Formats: sequence, structure tokens, C-alpha cells
Amino acid sequence: MSQRIKIKALLESTETGIDVTVKGWVRTFRNNQFIALNDGSTNNNLQVVVDFENADPALLKRLTTGAAISVFGHLVASLGKGQTVEVKAKTIQILGDSDPEKYPLQPKKHSLEFLREIAHLRFRTNTFGAIFRVRNSLAYAVHQFFQEKGFIYLHTPIITASDAEGAGETFHVTNFDLLNIPKADNGEVDFKQDFFGRATNLTVSGQLEGELGAMALSDIYTFGPTFRAENSNTTRHLAEFWMIEPEMAFCDLVDNMDTAEALLKYVIAYALDKNRDDIEFLTQRLLDEEKQKPQHERSEMSLTEKLQFCLDNDFERLTYTEAIDILKESAPNKKKKFQYPVEGWGTDLQSEHERYLVEKHFKKPVILTDYPKEIKAFYMRQNDDGKTVRAMDILFPGIGEIVGGSQREERLDKLEQRMDEMNIPKEELWWYLDTRRFGACEHAGFGLGFERLVLFVTGMGNIRDVIPFPRFPRSAEF
Ligand code: 4AD
Ligand code: MG
Repeated sequence: MSQRIKIKALLESTETGIDVTVKGWVRTFRNNQFIALNDGSTNNNLQVVVDFENADPALLKRLTTGAAISVFGHLVASLGKGQTVEVKAKTIQILGDSDPEKYPLQPKKHSLEFLREIAHLRFRTNTFGAIFRVRNSLAYAVHQFFQEKGFIYLHTPIITASDAEGAGETFHVTNFDLLNIPKADNGEVDFKQDFFGRATNLTVSGQLEGELGAMALSDIYTFGPTFRAENSNTTRHLAEFWMIEPEMAFCDLVDNMDTAEALLKYVIAYALDKNRDDIEFLTQRLLDEEKQKPQHERSEMSLTEKLQFCLDNDFERLTYTEAIDILKESAPNKKKKFQYPVEGWGTDLQSEHERYLVEKHFKKPVILTDYPKEIKAFYMRQNDDGKTVRAMDILFPGIGEIVGGSQREERLDKLEQRMDEMNIPKEELWWYLDTRRFGACEHAGFGLGFERLVLFVTGMGNIRDVIPFPRFPRSAEF
């Protein structure tokens, strides 16, 4: 028996007349003759033709949706529509039966909500196969982008004692017996007795440790899981998500924006090229979905066009202050259509405002800079106006914020002053402050939310559908 060949390679091959072995899961079996076989290497199924007149009827009965099989047969040019080659089976072996009465995935369209409940099986659908192949390509392209530029991939800790963003949205990590938590004399929890001898949590960001690396290695990036205990039940938030965080020494905010824009374009172009079939499938899926909507709610561009558009255009760059002026004068604001009216300078932008700027006003990705210091983290470099910091957020159509970053405050006195103002404990971050004491330099970085990127490239509407097993409030199944 010849070696197993994956279906993607088989469908791309022009060599017919040879014997092949394929393995996969039965998608459908029709007319007792045609198996649509899928092994996850591509969205396209391989047609396996069964000589049912000479086949064992007991075997035919076991060719059910979801069954794992091995096929040895002859590769021939296909007469059927939609495929160039097919396999005429000589022998078929059932590797794993799938009881059609009990198998939850029927060969029909299931809702995304239902598939989320059977996330352990949803990989076997066309939509999720495509999503996770695209996700894989994007991850690979992220590494390739940075490696080509000489960045060092740095593994920052997952368990830490700091809350990098200072937002207090951390998950505790403890080894205490929860029914018997040691207390100190003053009645507070005695973390000295805990595993690490102090209070610890899951990281919300690898940035602070990333900065330490950049202060020696010049350019680093992290790519790992991050955790936020924010109670947001939205289509854009997860409690566990993956983040890419580059940090660059001798780099200012403009270099930072250039790097982020180049990264986004690079990885999108990579996926468009590598996952043409999957993205075409997802484009069609979105078109079908939008047909249910009234005309004025449908997107002007298809998914593929949207991705291409993103590659072909410079992102619009403007300051927070300029954005507020645009929003104040905007039609939805004047007509009181925003849920949160834009009244003055200083408040944080809501996702409806971000999306107005991107989707209605500029009609392309936007980079906003120089936000009010009150709504940003302590580590951002302060501008001379005393009011704003060298922050940048990249806003994408349909997504809102996809990247958040800044130039960092490298001046020790300014940084300490800001930490005091914001009640960030300086003693605990002594190691962070040391980089400002010894060889401080201009530096900058950003965080790209990986699932938000996958959301954009796949055209999906809910972040829970672009990570294999989503974690969100009241849900940690699988
Ligand atoms: O804007 P954020 O909070 O920035 C940071 O964490 C910085 N330390 C990054 C840096 O400068 N190194 O998060 C960065 C990005 C956001 O723009 C968003 O794309 C994503 O992470 N993100 C989330 N994605 C999914 N679920 C959540 N709950 C997210 N919170 C942030
Ligand atoms: Mg942010």
C-alpha cells in the first residue's frame, strides 16, 4: 500500500493513473456510490467513487457522516463537476465508526451558536476548517515578518506579580485552599504563605518584560496568551486571547506606527496568497449571510475586496483631538444617533465612534495618536502640552481597535511622577524603573490582538468563533 497522501496535495496534482492511499472523515455518502472525503488539509473534499455492486453491504452501511476511513484506490481524472481528480476505491477500511443517529453534525447548515456548543467538533465544518487554517497562516506570517526584520522572539512570563496595564482586570493565581485562606494579623490575606510568597496573577500583557528585553536586544516581540478578567460580553472581547507585542529600542511613535502598519499589511497579504480557497469560501459565506440583511446594511465591499483595499491604501493618521472635532461635527452626533454623544475633549472613544471614523468618515483603517493621558496607561511618553501622551490605536473596519501602543516614557522623573499620580506601586516595579536608570533610550511598542486580526481576515462577526476554545464570562467548556 502506498503512503498516505493529503487531499490538498492530491487535488493539486496533475498526475493521474497512479494508486494512492487517502485518509479522512466522511462528509457525505450519496447514492451508495460517492464519498465526499475531507482530511482538513483543504476545504475541498475529495470524491471517492465506490464500486457498490461489488462492495460488502455491511461496509457500505458504515460509510456514515463523520466516520474516519482509509481508502486505497486509483487516481483518475474526474468526469464530475467541481473537481479535476477523484479516487476509484479498491479497498476501504473503516478506522472509526460514527453513529449517524448520534453524530451532532449533520450534512446541513448549522448556526454558529449551535456550533459553539459543540466546539470540539466544529473543526469538521467548512467554515471552521477555513477559519483555523487562516489563523494558522496568520500566526506563521507574524513570526516570518519579525524574523525577517531581525526581531528576537522573547517568551515573557504568564504568571506575574504585576498588572501591566494597571486596569485591575487580572485573574488571581493561588495555591491556597480556598476554604482555609491564611490571614495576617491585620486580617488581610497572607500571600507570604502562598506558592510564590506573594500575590500573583495571569499576565494581561507581556509589555513590561518585553521592554526589558528591548533594552538589550534592540528589537523583540512576544506572541503569547494574555488574560483579562473584564466582564465584557461583547463580540470583540475574550477573557483569554493571544497578543503580539513588539518592543523596539531607538524608536519613536512614527517608527512604531510604520511597523504596525507594515505588519498588518504583511500578514494579510500572506493569508490572501496562502489561503486563497479558504478566503474565497469565507467571502462567499459572508455574501450569503448578508443576503438576509436589507440592502442598506450590507457591506459595500466583499471580504476579499476589503482585504485587498487594506493592502492598497495608507492608513489615515490623525490625533485624538482631530478625531474628536470630526466626531463632534458628525451627522450622527448632531442627530443624537450615538448612544454616547461626543461632547467634549477628554473622554474615551466608544466603539461606535471608532467605527464611524473608519467606516463612514475615512472609509479606511485609521491610526489615532496623542490621546489624553487620563485615559491611557502610566508608561506612555508624555507630550509637552502636559495633557496628552504618545499613544496610538489602530482602528479597523468592522472591528474597532485592533492595535494599541505607544512610545514609552523613558525619563525616570516623568515616569515616577505619573506612577505616583496613578497609584502604581513603584517598589514592585523596581526592575522596570531600573531600565530608566541604566542606559534609558527612546523606545516604543504596541500590542496586536491576534483574534481581532483573525476576525478581520476571516470576516467573521464574533471573536468566539476565531479561537478554538473561547473563554468568556461564565464559559470555560472544553
Ligand atoms: O490596548 P491593549 O490593552 O494594550 C496593551 O495591552 C499594551 N500593553 C500593548 C503594548 O503596547 N505592548 O491591548 C492591545 C490589543 C488591543 O488593541 C486589542 O486588539 C487586543 O489587544 N485586546 C483584546 N482582544 C480580545 N479580547 C480582549 N479582552 C482584549 N483586550 C485587548
Ligand atoms: Mg487599548
